[in-house]
Amino acid sequence: MDDELNALRRTRMRWNTPLSEAHAELLLDRMDLGAGHLADLGCGWGELLLRAVGRTPGLRGTGVDTDEVSLARGRAAARERGLESRVEWAEADAATWDGVAERVFCIGAAHAFGSTKAALEGLARVVPAGGRLLYGDGFWAAPPSEAAKEIFGPDMLTLPGLLDVAGAAGWRVLHLSAADQLEWDDFESTSRAGWEGWLRDHPADPRAADVREWLDRRLREYVRDYRGVLGLTYLVLGR
Ligand SMILES: C[S@@+](CC[C@H](N)C(=O)[O-])C[C@H]1O[C@@H](n2cnc3c(N)ncnc32)[C@H](O)[C@@H]1O
Repeated sequence: MDDELNALRRTRMRWNTPLSEAHAELLLDRMDLGAGHLADLGCGWGELLLRAVGRTPGLRGTGVDTDEVSLARGRAAARERGLESRVEWAEADAATWDGVAERVFCIGAAHAFGSTKAALEGLARVVPAGGRLLYGDGFWAAPPSEAAKEIFGPDMLTLPGLLDVAGAAGWRVLHLSAADQLEWDDFESTSRAGWEGWLRDHPADPRAADVREWLDRRLREYVRDYRGVLGLTYLVLGR
């Protein structure tokens, strides 16, 4: 699908992860934010980063992502909220970003490092002792079907398995939560809503058949293969 349609698909999403407003506020509280540096690795358009900086005097942010369309959305949102002098954006690979920050977010972006294990080990080099990491990652909340394993790959862990990997990488779990069903259903629905609206307005567009096919497949896979099976945990980790 072309860049224009790809950008449009996510326009109805608040952020690119199953997360309610209230849950986001709780996680920001648990991150114990203060003056200093917050890096968001695999930030997308950096909505949570902007909220963190916006509510914390003296905190400056860096959003790192490889997707220039998402970064442009983040830059525009920072400008609208008067935060452009406090947030910088880097079009860069999260896994090789060589900065250090006392507070780090890495949500839904473990694949940038290659695996959950590689992400948790790599992030331990970014966060100094005494710092905190908000780490969001998928896990099997129920035994997956072959179809679910096919979609999400062979490396997905259970939650106990994920905690073992975090512990082995030197992290202490300071707070644990997981997306609930309403957060998941809202995430899936908003991730489809941009294209559903486009399809309604452009039924004769040559791309419409592909868009409809993608939307139908995504909804079918969600309800048949991974609703209630794929979880998303948010861990506030300390070192
Ligand atoms: C599921 S989205 C999550 C975005 C954001 N953390 C959020 O919660 O809204 C994963 C993000 O990782 C980014 N990404 C993928 N590979 C990357 C890499 N090697 N370096 C940096 N970002 C990467 C994608 O562009 C995408 O924005």
